[in-house]
Amino acid sequence: MNSEKIEIIDNLNIYGNTYLLTMKQSCSISKSSPGQFIMLFPNDTFEPLLGRPMSIHRVNAKKKTFSILYHKVGQGTLLISKMKKGDYIKIIGPLGNPIPYNRKANNFLLIAGGIGIAPLVWFADELISAKKNVVLLIGARNKNNIFPLKKLQEEIEIEVVTDDGSEGSKGFVTDKLTNYTDWADEICLCGPEVMFESANKIINSFPNQIPAYALFEKEMACGLGICYGCAIKDKNNKSRLVCTKGPTFNLSEIYN
Ligand code: FES
Repeated sequence: MNSEKIEIIDNLNIYGNTYLLTMKQSCSISKSSPGQFIMLFPNDTFEPLLGRPMSIHRVNAKKKTFSILYHKVGQGTLLISKMKKGDYIKIIGPLGNPIPYNRKANNFLLIAGGIGIAPLVWFADELISAKKNVVLLIGARNKNNIFPLKKLQEEIEIEVVTDDGSEGSKGFVTDKLTNYTDWADEICLCGPEVMFESANKIINSFPNQIPAYALFEKEMACGLGICYGCAIKDKNNKSRLVCTKGPTFNLSEIYN
């Protein structure tokens, strides 16, 4: 974990209100893994405790860059969206733990809800490099809110589900889960918690239990295990800190 100011290479609105911020890769980020995140500080007037947690979206070792994918939704992300090529931005990271997947598993079902696609793209990159089979289910509100499929590796099998049916099939992305009961060795989700709960119920109904884990997204003040602002309750009502113990948790630890 490191605190540094790094140069912005690009900051582009790539779909809907979603932006891709590409930055020069630092030494600490080069050692990060899918699932980890950074705290991003839009400018010097922001207090140190008001950074924005952002999943690392992709690392490009050849170009020595890395990126985050973010929705422009509030004051912090509005400031970030105004930053330009050549500006410097303060980050702390990498933080959190890599996705703890089973290296011996072969078939991975990844499920992204909305901006939850952000960390799963890099995870899919890593799985494809390791010669694993990857199905990615992408859920979005409508056709204007879908991550550009051409930016995904062609080896990934993709299914799109939208709330209004304007692209792919209509419904919830978790509706597709039962199609993979016999195929998936592991399931990894990122998106809203209501999606995790729904997926957990469906997975519990499978005849064979498939390991399933989810990356939780929480507002964070410190990102370092100090403020307890990111705590979630597990199924035994015990607090778990998303920043230091997560962001990935087994669904079976969190939900009944
Ligand atoms: Fe402060 Fe997790 S964000 S403890």
